[in-house]
Amino acid sequence: RTIQLDAARIDKGGHKHFMSKEIAEQPTVIAQALGHYLSGDGAIALPEPGIDFAGVDRLTMVACGTAYYACLSAKHWFEQIARMPVDVDVASEFRYREPPLPDRTAALFVSQSGETADTLAALRFCQGKAGSILSVVNVPESSIARESDLVLPIHAGVEVGVASTKAYSCQLTVLLILALKAAQDRGVIGPDEFADHVSALRGIPSVMSEALGIADNARRMGEKISQARDVLFLGRGQMFPLALEGALKLKEISYIHAEGYASGELKHGPIALVDQNVPIVVMAPRDRLFDKTVSNMQEVMARKGKVILISDARGIEEAGEGTFGTILMPTVQEVVSPILYAVPAQLLAYYTAIAKGTDVDQPRNLAKSVTVE
Ligand code: G6P
Repeated sequence: RTIQLDAARIDKGGHKHFMSKEIAEQPTVIAQALGHYLSGDGAIALPEPGIDFAGVDRLTMVACGTAYYACLSAKHWFEQIARMPVDVDVASEFRYREPPLPDRTAALFVSQSGETADTLAALRFCQGKAGSILSVVNVPESSIARESDLVLPIHAGVEVGVASTKAYSCQLTVLLILALKAAQDRGVIGPDEFADHVSALRGIPSVMSEALGIADNARRMGEKISQARDVLFLGRGQMFPLALEGALKLKEISYIHAEGYASGELKHGPIALVDQNVPIVVMAPRDRLFDKTVSNMQEVMARKGKVILISDARGIEEAGEGTFGTILMPTVQEVVSPILYAVPAQLLAYYTAIAKGTDVDQPRNLAKSVTVE
């Protein structure tokens, strides 16, 4: 019986790789996560014992790898929606710095596996210091979950591909819900704004299904990217963590050197790398920072960099001219665009790796869960 269950759990469901299966599953698993955290009337329901953010002055978030990038996105949400000061750290750096943790600090650990050694050690450092220990995990029986005061499962289902995909978008979903809860508890969000954000969240599964339609285009772009030695990913504001994640995904599975940069930092160094051989992936929905990103993009184009612009219809209409390629994304409310733009970050890496013939699910030198320091 156990064997049968395991066999069912590791089925690729008609996909060539676990990674493509897990990318395709995102609308379904995000809908599952939403179902666990949002009640029918749009209220947020956290697992027991819950948390009241009225008693929290500061949030410290700690994680590794892709989960760390999810934390960087969440920092935007906690700061902007909940007006809460937030620190984010990679686990291996956090604990050796021995940061002070006043007791009205909540420490939040994000980990797909719940077993990453550095993240667990950082959690243990916070025990007895932080006011509360929260974790956002995919494995509720994991060590990190067991040692937390409040566990927020992401409900992504088993993730097999070493490069994290559906766990990332589910982490983002749960973290956005948590930021909304914090905003409510702290009395800094009105009912209309709250309802708008909840409706944006509920819309994710359907816009994400639509976004998966970029696959053919991503395959063509991936074929081009596979010829490159270096690739830059640029994003500003909410899109900066996505640029980091896009670069990480590409490195992990295609072994192409990639860097994610905040668009505005380009001129402080990385622009020196740009020539006609360097693809530059620009992640830029038509939001309030769009014009700034476009001017950074034009600096790159003036130096013959091959820009691939990922944006919505309005963004591509306004700035698509003269680019090497464009990827058309659905238009969504600004607050949820980091969740949606996980899809092009993942698919570009996936198809680049396919074009190069690397092992997508088991990239060299990497492990799904790193239980050593
Ligand atoms: C490994 C994996 C990454 C993952 C990181 C953190 O390096 O290859 O995909 O993001 O660990 O893992 P965790 O299980 O803590 O999220």
